[in-house]
Amino acid sequence: MLLLNLALSVAAAVALPTPDSSEVNQSQPFSQNGLAPWNAGAVNRFPIHSSCNSTQRRQIELGLNETITLAEHAKSHILRWSNESEIYRKYFGDRPTMEAIGAFDIVVNGDKKDILFRCDNPDGNCDNEGWAGHWRGVNATDETVICDMSYETRRSLSTMCGLGYTVSESETNTFWAADLLHRLYHVPAIGQNWIDHFADGYEEVVDQAKKNATLSTHDSETLQYFALEVYAYDISAPGIGCPGVQHEHEDTHNEATTTSEPAPTATTSEKPSSTLDVPAVSKSIEFSIVDLY
Ligand SMILES: *[C@@H]1O[C@H](CO)[C@@H](O)[C@H](O)[C@H]1NC(C)=O
Ligand SMILES: *[C@@H]1O[C@H](CO)[C@@H](O)[C@H](O)[C@H]1NC(C)=O
Ligand SMILES: *[C@@H]1O[C@H](CO)[C@@H](O)[C@H](O)[C@H]1NC(C)=O
Ligand SMILES: *[C@@H]1O[C@H](CO)[C@@H](O)[C@H](O)[C@H]1NC(C)=O
Ligand SMILES: *[C@@H]1O[C@H](CO)[C@@H](O)[C@H](O)[C@H]1NC(C)=O
Ligand SMILES: *[C@@H]1O[C@H](CO)[C@@H](O)[C@H](O)[C@H]1NC(C)=O
Repeated sequence: MLLLNLALSVAAAVALPTPDSSEVNQSQPFSQNGLAPWNAGAVNRFPIHSSCNSTQRRQIELGLNETITLAEHAKSHILRWSNESEIYRKYFGDRPTMEAIGAFDIVVNGDKKDILFRCDNPDGNCDNEGWAGHWRGVNATDETVICDMSYETRRSLSTMCGLGYTVSESETNTFWAADLLHRLYHVPAIGQNWIDHFADGYEEVVDQAKKNATLSTHDSETLQYFALEVYAYDISAPGIGCPGVQHEHEDTHNEATTTSEPAPTATTSEKPSSTLDVPAVSKSIEFSIVDLY
């Protein structure tokens, strides 16, 4: 029987047509010639233009590496907790999780061929007061310009929750990571003309999730605030974070004033709901099967 199966599959393999140049247009990027691996030519690192000198290149590269760190963690948090996460529900309301997971994953794992960061101010916009960079839009839709102000003001994620930063009261572009995440969402290869600006600022983002969350999982600001808040809560100051002032329409559990609470261990980063204020010792069972409804 096994032998017969084997014989059949060998026969099938032999019978399989081998594509030749008449069937496959070799100039198409997705064609396979049978020798190269399926993903030959993949671009895994963000391209940085030669107009960036070595210090600029290094800072942009570090910033982009932190963007990947931020997006990767946001994705992991959703995959681990789904909508059991209070922070998930705060930003995305009742929306299914797949769209947000994809919006973070494409930044981490999407092909980076059609993306370019440059430093030569081709549109002159860096001369405008307060501009730290811009998407080139109709002039070059794949391109992002980084202006000198970025090097002076953007911070490393390692400073998260320090220097007065809070999620609700500080700008998302405090950090290279979220600033560049936002810039990447403008580029069609990443944002796919689907991620856009629907809500502006923290309050609108939180309101949007409460009133009508339909747009939240492809809202640029929402994705940034969510990523920053889970990074702060899970990584920078585990179990505490730095959410900042929450308004009364917020769940009381998320308030910054709970900082006197003992920090849970890094593995128990999220409280499931406001049903019980379980002591720190029992936190390890918070997400056991019985708690999942
Ligand atoms: C192969 O694909 C390229 C790009 O899509 C196209 O310009 C060209 O005409 C195609 N050639 C043939 C023989 O189909
Ligand atoms: C790169 O350019 C910036 C801005 O013009 C300049 O301040 C810096 O000194 C340059 N770095 C190198 C290594 O040339
Ligand atoms: C960014 O990450 C890549 C891949 O992990 C690494 O090779 C590179 O050295 C990092 N760049 C900087 C400036 O840290
Ligand atoms: C959480 O997701 C489940 C499906 O996985 C859904 O049934 C439930 O209504 C969601 N809860 C909220 C509060 O959105
Ligand atoms: C595109 O180029 C034009 C002409 O140089 C300029 O006025 C405009 O601001 C540029 N657009 C963007 C988005 O930079
Ligand atoms: C929620 O927002 C979406 C997108 O703007 C809209 O299509 C939909 O009608 C809204 N739903 C409600 C109940 O307001």
